Amino acid sequence: MPHVHRRPKMSISRCALLCLSALLALSSTASAAENGFEYGSGLRGPAEWGGFCANGTKQSPINVVIADTVLDKSLRDRLDTEYGKCTYAVIINDKSAHHLDVEGDGSFGNLTLNGVKYELVKFHFHSPSEHTIDGVSFDLEMHLFHKSADGKFAVIAIFFNESHDDDAESPFLKQVFSWLPNITQPDTNVTTMAPITLESLPLQGSYAQYSGSLTTPPCTEGVSWVVMLNETQKMSCPQFGAYQKVFPEANNRPVQNTRCRSVTRFEHA
Ligand SMILES: *[C@@H]1O[C@H](CO)[C@@H](O)[C@H](O)[C@H]1NC(C)=O
Ligand SMILES: *[C@@H]1O[C@H](CO)[C@@H](O)[C@H](O)[C@H]1NC(C)=O
Ligand SMILES: *[C@@H]1O[C@H](CO)[C@@H](O)[C@H](O)[C@H]1NC(C)=O
Ligand SMILES: *[C@@H]1O[C@H](CO)[C@@H](O)[C@H](O)[C@H]1NC(C)=O
Ligand SMILES: *[C@@H]1O[C@H](CO)[C@@H](O)[C@H](O)[C@H]1NC(C)=O
Ligand SMILES: *[C@@H]1O[C@H](CO)[C@@H](O)[C@H](O)[C@H]1NC(C)=O
Ligand SMILES: [Zn+2]
Repeated sequence: MPHVHRRPKMSISRCALLCLSALLALSSTASAAENGFEYGSGLRGPAEWGGFCANGTKQSPINVVIADTVLDKSLRDRLDTEYGKCTYAVIINDKSAHHLDVEGDGSFGNLTLNGVKYELVKFHFHSPSEHTIDGVSFDLEMHLFHKSADGKFAVIAIFFNESHDDDAESPFLKQVFSWLPNITQPDTNVTTMAPITLESLPLQGSYAQYSGSLTTPPCTEGVSWVVMLNETQKMSCPQFGAYQKVFPEANNRPVQNTRCRSVTRFEHA
C-alpha cells in the first residue's frame, strides 16, 4: 500500500498541479513492494521485487535436487501435525496477493517442527508449482502457512497434478474449489458454513526440509520449509479447470539460487 501523507489545505487548482506532480514522482520512485507486486515480466514482476527479495541469500522457492539432499532416516511416523476442524472458513479471491486464500474461524490446528510449535493460520495455492523436484514442475502447489507464538513461519508444500483417471477428483480440494463460482471477482470472499477438514492431506511420507523465505514480497527469510515428496495428489480435469477459470494467471515466483544451503530429506528408516 502506498503511504498517504496529510497535506495542508490549499486551493483546488494548486492542489491539482502539486498532487499530480507528487503522484508522478511517487509512481516513478516507489518500489514494487510499496505499490503491490505482480507476476510476469512487467515492471512489478519478480525481477523487480525489492528488499529481501533482491538482497536475500536464503530465498524461496528452490529446485530440490534429490541427489544433493542430505538423507536423514530419523522419520518414524509422519509430520507432527494436529489438525482439527475450524467451525467455518472464509475462501478469498485475494487480488493483491494474486491467490486463492483460505482462512479459518480460529485455528486449523498445530504443527511441531524441530521442537517449535506453530499454528496453521491459513492456506493458499500457486499454479504452476513454485518448488520443482529435479527440475520437474507440478500443476498446483498448496502452501499450509503456519506461525509460531513468537512470529516464526513454517510452510508445508503439497503438490497436485491434473489427472484423467476416473478417481482423480480430490476430496480435499472439493471442499474449497466448490466455492470458486462464488468468488469469480477479485477481492470477493465466501464463508463456508461447513468446516474444512484436513485429515485427508498426505503427510505420512518423505519430505525435504530447508530454510528459506516467503515467496512473495517482502520475501522475509527464516521460514522453515517442508516440501512433501512422492505424495503428488491427483485432481480431476474439471477441478483444475474450475480453478484456472477464476485464477488464469500464473502466480509462481521463479526458483531461487540455493547457494550453499543444505536441504535435508527425511525418510522412514
Ligand atoms: C535488504 O532489504 C531489507 C528490506 O528492504 C533491508 O531492511 C536490509 O537492510 C537490506 N539489506 C542489505 C544488506 O541491503
Ligand atoms: C493447538 O494448540 C493449542 C495450544 O497451543 C490448543 O489449544 C489447541 O487445541 C491445539 N489444536 C489442536 C487442533 O490440537
Ligand atoms: C506432474 O505433471 C508434470 C507435467 O505437468 C509431469 O512432468 C510430472 O511428472 C507429473 N508428476 C507426477 C508425480 O505425476
Ligand atoms: C454460492 O453460489 C451458489 C451458486 O451460484 C449460490 O446458490 C449460493 O447461494 C452461493 N452461496 C453463498 C454463501 O454465497
Ligand atoms: C470478505 O468480504 C467482505 C465484504 O466485501 C469484507 O468486508 C471482508 O473484509 C472480507 N473478508 C476477508 C477475510 O477478506
Ligand atoms: C521419491 O521421489 C524421489 C524424487 O522424485 C525419487 O528419487 C525416489 O525414488 C522416490 N522414492 C520413493 C520411495 O518412491
Ligand atoms: Zn505461497
